[in-house]
Amino acid sequence: MDLMNALEHAREKDYKFSSGRILGSMCTSPHPIGKKAYMKFIETNLGDQELFKGTKELEKKAVGFIADLLHAPSGYTGIMTSGGTESNITALWICRELKKADEVLIPKLAHFSFEKATSLLRMKARIVEGKYMMKARDFKKMATEKTKCGVAIAGNTTFGYIDEIEDIADFCYDENIFLHVDAAFGGFVIPFLYEIPFDFRLKGVSSMSIDAHKMGVSPIPSGFLLLRKNWLKSIEVRSKCTHTKFQASLLGTRPGASAAASYAVMHYLGKEGYKKIVRRCMNVTKHLTKLLDESNIKYVKPVLNVVAIKVRDAIGISKKLKRMGWMVGFDEENGVIRVVLMPHVKKKFIEEFVKDLKKVVK
Ligand SMILES: Cc1ncc(COP(=O)(O)O)c(C=O)c1O
Repeated sequence: MDLMNALEHAREKDYKFSSGRILGSMCTSPHPIGKKAYMKFIETNLGDQELFKGTKELEKKAVGFIADLLHAPSGYTGIMTSGGTESNITALWICRELKKADEVLIPKLAHFSFEKATSLLRMKARIVEGKYMMKARDFKKMATEKTKCGVAIAGNTTFGYIDEIEDIADFCYDENIFLHVDAAFGGFVIPFLYEIPFDFRLKGVSSMSIDAHKMGVSPIPSGFLLLRKNWLKSIEVRSKCTHTKFQASLLGTRPGASAAASYAVMHYLGKEGYKKIVRRCMNVTKHLTKLLDESNIKYVKPVLNVVAIKVRDAIGISKKLKRMGWMVGFDEENGVIRVVLMPHVKKKFIEEFVKDLKKVVK
C-alpha cells in the first residue's frame, strides 16, 4: 500500500461530520473559507511573531472581533489558544499569579479542563454544587475570606445551561474575586440568542474563554482567552533564541494558520452570519425536542443547542447507539445522553436518530 492509500485508509476509519452521525461533539466541519486560509498560513508560527508579523496582525484582528462580541473594555488583552482547555488553564495561571490564589471556586458542572488546571497549578478546587447550573447563592455560600478566584460557565458541557453570572459577577466585584467565565461553547451562541449580560459588560468578570473551533465554525485548534486588563504580562517570560523577546502564553510554537483561518471565517460571516447559523441550530434543536415529546422521551429543556436526554443507563444506551452508528455524548452522573445540535446536524439525521433511540430506550 503506498503512503497516500495508507492515509486514506486511516481516514476511512474516522467518523465524518458530514455523515450526520456525530451527535456528541462540540466541534464541527470548519467553514470552507477557514480551510482555505488555514492552508495558506500552514507554516506560520505565532510563537515567533517577529518572523510572522502579518499573521500576528490577523491574530490581533481575530481577538478584536471576539473583544467586540464579548464587550471587552478598552485596555483588554487577548490571545489565541489551542482551545477551551488551554484558555482555562491560562486564566487560572494568571489568577494565581495576580492574586496569589491557592484555591478556586468551581461549579460542579464545569468542564474537566479545570481538573487539569488545578492539578497543574496546585490549586485547591472547591466545588460549588448545582443541578443544571450554578446559582449565585451557592457560589456566595462557598466563598470565604480566602477566596480570590472563581469560575462560572456560560453554556456548560452537559446541559448547555448558563450559570447565574450576573449576580456572581456583582459579588466578585464587591469581594475583589477574580472571576473567569468559561464561554468556550456558549460564547458563539448566547450573543446571538439572548440579551442577557454574561460577559465583560459585567464589571466583575475578569477573563473569558471562547472557542472558535466550536460554534465559531473555524478549524481546530482555535480558542481565545480574553482578559479585562493587560494581565498577560503576569505570565510573560523572556524567550531566548527566538526572534521575539517575550512570550506570554502556555504554548511556545503556536499555529498562525488558526489565527488566519478564524479571522477569515469571522470576517466572512460577521455577526449576521453567525446569527443565521445559531438560528438554524436552534431550529434543529426544536425539531429534536418535538420528536422526543411525540415519543414520550424525557429531556432537560434546552436553553442552547444542547439536549440532555434522560435515560436509565447512560453508558448502556450510548453503547447501543454506537452499535447503530450514532456517537452521542453521555454524562453518567447526571443520567443523560446528550446531543449537541452543531451546524453539521441536519433535521433528517435527527429523524433517523430518534427512530433508533426509541428502539433502545423502550
Ligand atoms: C464549557 C467547556 N469548556 C472547555 C472545554 C474544553 O475545550 P477544548 O476541548 O477545546 O479544550 C469544553 C469542551 O467541550 C467545554 O464544553
